Amino acid sequence: MFIDPQTAPGFKRSIFNALVAPRPIGWISSLSAGGKANLAPFSQFNLVSTSPPVVMFACNTPEDRAEKDTVANVRATGEFVVNLVSWDLLQAMNATSAPLPHGVDEFEHARVVKEMSVMVKPPRVAASPANLECRVIKIVQIEPEFPGETASTVVFGRVVGLHMKDEFIDAEGRFDTFKARPVTRLGGLQYGALGEVIEVASAFRKRQ
Ligand SMILES: Cc1cc2nc3c(=O)[nH]c(=O)nc-3n(C[C@H](O)[C@H](O)[C@H](O)COP(=O)(O)O)c2cc1C
Repeated sequence: MFIDPQTAPGFKRSIFNALVAPRPIGWISSLSAGGKANLAPFSQFNLVSTSPPVVMFACNTPEDRAEKDTVANVRATGEFVVNLVSWDLLQAMNATSAPLPHGVDEFEHARVVKEMSVMVKPPRVAASPANLECRVIKIVQIEPEFPGETASTVVFGRVVGLHMKDEFIDAEGRFDTFKARPVTRLGGLQYGALGEVIEVASAFRKRQ
């Protein structure tokens, strides 16, 4: 089957979520200009680069407002925190995706405990195995081109501080991703956990 997403009648854009999966979830905490905390999950999220250390997340245009609270907040304050969603935090993470009015604190709504950040003002999720404190470096607007499309806002942040709970650091000082049990997003309402993990000898060689 081949589909031209620009012209196919009744094409459902949500199919992209099933095709590009599993996706990590960036659980983004931010502060409004007035200092109210906000927390929301984004699976259009990833690490872009390790040097400089940069992450991104993308927001769709909501139907009821010009932009989602997270985007409005990071525009206003230039800061956010990425909180790792471990399996035990799945329900709380999902609860924070509710479309609550601007200024309502999803930490309180989902009973998620806050902890102070070090380099940025937004609080972080105390129970997350890891948190990345970020400073916004670029916000890119992707404009719609075809009927039925809406704009998307991509936020890039430089990691300026990272927290890892000691229990997830192994004997060699590496972060044990498997032990942290990160939740991943598939298509529809599906989530996935990590399956089998293997190590493969690197084929990458630096030129002499
Ligand atoms: C697992 C999960 C992943 C999500 N990923 C995205 C995403 O990548 N982009 C997006 O715009 N919304 C995404 N959403 C929906 C937002 O979390 C939701 O619109 C939320 O209310 C936004 O909050 P805010 O207005 O406080 O920023 C996701 C929801 C869930 C449950």
